[in-house]
Amino acid sequence: MKRVLVTGGAGFISSNFIRHLLEFTPYEVVTLDALTYAGNLENLADVMSHERLSFVHGDIRDAALVRELVEGVDVIVNAAAESHVEKSIEHGASEFVTTNVEGTQILLDAIRVTPVERFILISSSEVYGTAEAAPMDEEHPLNPRSPYAATKAGADRLAYAYWTTYDLPIVIVRPFNNYGPRQHPEKVVPRFITQALADEPLTIHGDGHASRDWLYVLDDAEAIERTIEAPIEQVAGEVINVASGVDISIADIATMVLDVLGKPRDLTCNVPERLGQVDRHIGSVDKAQALLGWQARTSFAEGLERTVAWYRDNEAWWRAILARETRALSS
Ligand SMILES: NC(=O)c1ccc[n+]([C@@H]2O[C@H](COP(=O)([O-])OP(=O)(O)OC[C@H]3O[C@@H](n4cnc5c(N)ncnc54)[C@H](O)[C@@H]3O)[C@@H](O)[C@H]2O)c1
Repeated sequence: MKRVLVTGGAGFISSNFIRHLLEFTPYEVVTLDALTYAGNLENLADVMSHERLSFVHGDIRDAALVRELVEGVDVIVNAAAESHVEKSIEHGASEFVTTNVEGTQILLDAIRVTPVERFILISSSEVYGTAEAAPMDEEHPLNPRSPYAATKAGADRLAYAYWTTYDLPIVIVRPFNNYGPRQHPEKVVPRFITQALADEPLTIHGDGHASRDWLYVLDDAEAIERTIEAPIEQVAGEVINVASGVDISIADIATMVLDVLGKPRDLTCNVPERLGQVDRHIGSVDKAQALLGWQARTSFAEGLERTVAWYRDNEAWWRAILARETRALSS
């Protein structure tokens, strides 16, 4: 039976992806997570005792640990990362460089020693910067506009270089903006939802015109699973966008969140534009369709309703995160 190492399992995308793998595939899953401020064991609480899941508390920058884990698996999905754009701008990029770039390099070096069936790097659409054409396909220039995005581009090209130099079975996946259950409230969709649930104004950066291609996290999970299953000769060395092909502005999302929750549409306030802001993102879906036979199934309206319902039903989850952050700020 295939054993899959998923890094960053206590985070948003990986915890949803692991739940998807346990539900829809027979694979055994090992996850490695350093439990940074963004890692939350609550995200795996309902599957932690699953017989096909093992959790390892550790760091992808720990070369000895990584080598040991890689020896026991067939597939690696590297999703562990420092993932918050604003944090990379305001609090320094050092952890971003070491986790996102060096961590990826350590994993890649481990598969040079112990070959695996395939290595999937979860890169990001942020590597493109603002769209020069719409939709953006995989040939779009890489003009990362934040330290976070630059480190993702570094890891992305490093993975590509290991494929071309050492002929390793590497696939690079570039998801567009994910949203859904279990996303840290620092990110815009859950921030809007939790602000609205608390009857606080939704904070919109600038005039809210910036738009993104929003992908429901369980659609992303399906795409990553397809990347594991596609014939390797079809996907090795390829970069594949995972996108919905539709873009929606931040201001429109604020309105939709307020409408879903029945709150007044003027429960918003504008704050200064984010540094390193990307104006527009919309992904081409053609390559994922051609190589993986995958396309997003969840409309934004449907995904948002499900996401709002999850945050409404799991208030203790997000209130605990906000309380931890308040304590950390005051200490
Ligand atoms: N969320 C999005 O919209 C989005 C879009 C495109 C790509 N991505 C990429 O997908 C991946 C997952 O994103 P996410 O939003 O779930 O992030 P997240 O911040 O929710 O989770 C990241 C996880 O990685 C863990 N981690 C951080 N540093 C680590 C280290 N050194 N060793 C081991 N574990 C470590 C954290 O503890 C956390 O559990 C990242 O690579 C991110 O760049 C995210």
